[in-house]
Amino acid sequence: MTTTKRAHVIVVGNEKGGTGKSTVSMHLIVGLLSLGLKVGSIDIDARQATLTRYLQNRTARKDIERLGLALPEHVAVPPTADRAGDEAQLSETVARMLGEHDAIVIDTPGSDHYLSRLGHSFADTLVTPLNDSLIDLDVLALVDPQTMRIVRPSHYAEMVWETKKARALRGEKAVVDWIVMRNRLHALDARNKRDMEKLLAELARRIGFRLVPGLGERVIYRSMFLEGLTLLDLRHKVPGFELNMSHVTARQELRSMMEAVGLMGLARDRGFVAPLPAGEG
Ligand SMILES: Nc1ncnc2c1ncn2[C@@H]1O[C@H](COP(=O)(O)OP(=O)(O)O)[C@@H](O)[C@H]1O
Ligand SMILES: [Mg+2]
Repeated sequence: MTTTKRAHVIVVGNEKGGTGKSTVSMHLIVGLLSLGLKVGSIDIDARQATLTRYLQNRTARKDIERLGLALPEHVAVPPTADRAGDEAQLSETVARMLGEHDAIVIDTPGSDHYLSRLGHSFADTLVTPLNDSLIDLDVLALVDPQTMRIVRPSHYAEMVWETKKARALRGEKAVVDWIVMRNRLHALDARNKRDMEKLLAELARRIGFRLVPGLGERVIYRSMFLEGLTLLDLRHKVPGFELNMSHVTARQELRSMMEAVGLMGLARDRGFVAPLPAGEG
């Protein structure tokens, strides 16, 4: 389907490594593809290149046609010594993809880098995965350990604020749907869970994000990297993978995450009759 609407841009960002940005990016990409959308993906964490390699593993599968695996148009924008050139390459890639796809997913590095800042400024939706720990909360806010109250928002929250201004200066809407998602949730650890929930709810009000259900700590989210697959692909019979009860729960969790981020709404908005992803239809 050729689209007449400008693509919706989802940026996955957090000024910290190892919070699940690339994992979430890959699942969002495959989620969008499973809904029938045309997807462009951009890796600006090209030094680690986790997303790029995940997608290369997918592209390299010999059974890609038999399994009916869809692929995004993927571009890696590695930083070089030429800052202006890097920024131009990223801007041009996004500008071109906006007219050619339904959605663009941008995976960013866990550091404050000029390409990351520019990448953030294209976000219609910004998804920030957060490890389920008070240490990771530090990226969003300074918390007083005595009172467990928020003292002030920190760097990354300010950076998001700055990128909204950058958008406004380019004459684009400054409203960004900022979503914070807890990742690697543990079933145990009730005390930490309570503290996190309280602080995140307060912070959501103060710095303006939506808190959505995230992903639990599950082996299945990392074990399919070399295969280039996600759980959302298992509606097809894949040799070596047997679906078990824990996978069914995980798929339900992925589906809730996709709904909360707005993927199903996006599909409906573009005239796709959203099929149920992966094995539920
Ligand atoms: N929900 C999860 N359950 C289990 N492992 C996860 C989950 N999310 C991420 N991981 C693992 O945590 C590590 C960091 O994730 P990654 O997506 O590479 O983070 P980032 O891109 O933010 O650096 C990887 O080994 C990844 O497989
Ligand atoms: Mg990454």
